[in-house]
Amino acid sequence: MSVHGVDDQAEVGIIGGSGLYALDGLTDVRRVRVSTPYGEPSDEVVLGTLSGKRVAFLPRHGEGHRISPSHLPARANIHALKSLGVRQVLSISAVGSLREDYAPGDLVVPDQIVDRTSQARGNSFFDQDVVVHVPFATPYCDRLRPLLADAARANARVHTAGTYCCIEGPQFSTRAESELYRSWGLDIIGMTAVPEARLAREAELCYAGLALVTDYDCWHDGHDSVTAQAVAEVMHRNGEAAKATLTALLTTLPTDVACACQNALATSIITPLTKLPESTR
Ligand code: ADE
Repeated sequence: MSVHGVDDQAEVGIIGGSGLYALDGLTDVRRVRVSTPYGEPSDEVVLGTLSGKRVAFLPRHGEGHRISPSHLPARANIHALKSLGVRQVLSISAVGSLREDYAPGDLVVPDQIVDRTSQARGNSFFDQDVVVHVPFATPYCDRLRPLLADAARANARVHTAGTYCCIEGPQFSTRAESELYRSWGLDIIGMTAVPEARLAREAELCYAGLALVTDYDCWHDGHDSVTAQAVAEVMHRNGEAAKATLTALLTTLPTDVACACQNALATSIITPLTKLPESTR
């Protein structure tokens, strides 16, 4: 981790997804390169002030969308935000819809995740010397979610819950897969919630997602199957809704909060601390 000065601190982290590679309206902007034990984050972190809060913005895929979902440096991204002092993370992403009433242009604040990735994405910070089983029954912060949904309401139709099906990608799903996920009752589909949400919990960060519905995946007879171009077009049109939501949320977001997410490791570590090497304690 690089050494950061006091100016390099932020209260809230914002991870931008497809179509959200920069955040306008930031003042007092500084760009910092952060190095972490897990390598380089996706890009430079942009520090700035938005609605009176110091934020750290990181484009998940790197500026210009260079990094595919399977190769995202999620551990470095979360570690970098934590090292900058961030305690709450807002994660923006494009998703497909698996149900009729979640239409393109809508916003979803998901409350659950089903992991359909290859599970080879560097899912934990704790893969050596220590055994940690962090609680993950509620993968998103239940305190932050309603605040985010309320802020979103002025900007689009909002769904206050939904189960996010995270696939490995980078290919979109087959129709049979899409129908299978629908039969399981899953609501939206994307490629990036895992391992980001897992790592945020291990890092004891409050984490909430704002998912922008861009398409009906490939199950809907009345709509074309998803294409990358369609995702980009809808994101281009609706990116403003995400930005307006963030601006509104930050105006009222409490930053000095006592939340269970920020104490998640208290009951998670199995290995007796005396058995750990000094460096990991
Ligand atoms: N991102 C946006 N739309 C998607 C879809 N249909 N499947 C997976 N990821 C997506």
